[in-house]
Amino acid sequence: MKDVILTGLRANSELTLGNYLGGILPMIEMQQKFAKTHQINMFVPDLHSFTTPIDHSQLQASIFNNLKVYAAAGLDLDNPNTFIYRQSYIPAHSELTWILDCFTGMGELSRMTQFKDKSASLSKESISVGLFNYPVLMTTDILLYNAKYVPVGEDQFQHLEITRDIAERMNKKFGQIFVVPENTAKQTAFINRDQGLRIRSLTNPEKKMSKSDENPKSKILLTDDPQQAHKKIMSATTDNIGQINYDWQNQPGITNLLTILAYLTNQDLEQVKTKYCGQTQYGEFKKDVATAVQTFLEDFQTKLAKVDEQKLLAKLEQSEIEMNKIANQTLLRAQKAVGLR
Ligand code: TYM
Repeated sequence: MKDVILTGLRANSELTLGNYLGGILPMIEMQQKFAKTHQINMFVPDLHSFTTPIDHSQLQASIFNNLKVYAAAGLDLDNPNTFIYRQSYIPAHSELTWILDCFTGMGELSRMTQFKDKSASLSKESISVGLFNYPVLMTTDILLYNAKYVPVGEDQFQHLEITRDIAERMNKKFGQIFVVPENTAKQTAFINRDQGLRIRSLTNPEKKMSKSDENPKSKILLTDDPQQAHKKIMSATTDNIGQINYDWQNQPGITNLLTILAYLTNQDLEQVKTKYCGQTQYGEFKKDVATAVQTFLEDFQTKLAKVDEQKLLAKLEQSEIEMNKIANQTLLRAQKAVGLR
């Protein structure tokens, strides 16, 4: 059995540069490196898309758009060890989630930072059970396919830890049912990054860049007009220290831009630091980052327009048949373990 590398991006709104750098780019790099020796699962967690309110008339289009984004970003659909699929087309996700729910504590789910953040501004009546239960469905997404590596941004690390906790708990109670994914330190080393990635808001670099931020200047969307995106970077909030340093603590705005530049131009962070750190003018540096973002978007959007939709659909349907088989095998192990079969 091949080791599985798996990730998914919700189709609840337009994807940001943070989503691209945190969730998509590492998968493309992993596919280029390990396509022969590993299985690559890149799916759309469509059931996760409405844990907070969305426009449901747009959901089908968003799901398909995510799949096109994967292809445009460079996911090789011809690779036989790569699978793309929609979570809701594989009923085992819902079924295993119920089983795992019964072995997960209210307390541990209440401690999830994402739940606390997203529910903070809502009344108790308007917090959905789905939002609370989100990490268990995510656990299922990972365990059903025996995934060992799960490239995600740093905001999802806590969900990876709870996945490991649930898998270990079930294995301890019932015997070896699940493959336990690697811990986040090993995950980060595997995808060749020095730490979990958290791209920051351009207007408030203390916060992460988020699709749900209402200020369009805070984020770069993959659909942004490249020239507008250039302007957003030029006006990104930095600081008045007057020297470029790689320092998340004191200069998060500048450090965010250094990080974006390194990843988009496929350079080591060290190379970028060597070139820019110590410089006392922010303008030229910002221009280089803005140009890198603009070039990236122009290239990406050209590729997106050229995605072969028929080929994508054929791959999707074939993957969903294959993945149903694997997911059902894992589900059956869990059903047997708890006495349902
Ligand atoms: P989603 O759609 O919220 O985010 C998709 C991916 O984008 C990453 N990300 C970021 N990375 C760096 N900087 C940012 N500012 C930033 N914002 C978002 C997220 O970490 C994520 O990798 N729960 C998942 C979806 C999911 C999933 C799974 C992932 C559902 N089941 C199973 C892996 C395995 C999520 O956060 O989606």
